[in-house]
Amino acid sequence: MRAAILLALGLFIGVVATVMTLGALRQGTPFHQGLMSVMAHHLGSLRAMGEPGTPADACSSQRVGAHLAMLRLAGDDLEAAFLPTMNDERFRQYASNYRDALDAAIAQPAQSCETAAQQAAALGDSCSACHRDFR
Ligand code: HEC
Repeated sequence: MRAAILLALGLFIGVVATVMTLGALRQGTPFHQGLMSVMAHHLGSLRAMGEPGTPADACSSQRVGAHLAMLRLAGDDLEAAFLPTMNDERFRQYASNYRDALDAAIAQPAQSCETAAQQAAALGDSCSACHRDFR
């Protein structure tokens, strides 16, 4: 009798542990972290264009433009990713400044690897401005 109860208890604990593990695995990445990772990837790609020995065709206006376009689109989701937890006038201002910086960069696409990397540095400042206060 005692063995049967212990066996039933063991099975029960096993089932509960499995359900909890499956639940934890299903949670996935929070949206704001995914968004920031995407932004970091595209900014990093632009920055890397400044590395010595980068072939000029790696910095064509198409390639630079594609990274800038992704960064600009991601900027539209900043509020969706962080509000309402960061429902703050300054947060909205930083998000808006970030989008302005990208609009300016897109209006004047880089002509070389060097200028692409310079643009990336300037855009990085608008990332850092928000991070200084909110990260
Ligand atoms: C308007 C505000 C804002 C702007 C603009 C912004 N970020 Fe962030 N970022 C945040 C906040 C807030 C966090 C902290 C999130 C957390 O810890 O949960 C963060 C965190 C991050 C992280 C760490 C993510 C993680 O998994 O913990 C990276 C990487 C990052 N940002 C990259 C960037 C890059 C690159 C840019 C510019 C291209 C940028 N961010 C622009 C607000 C911003």
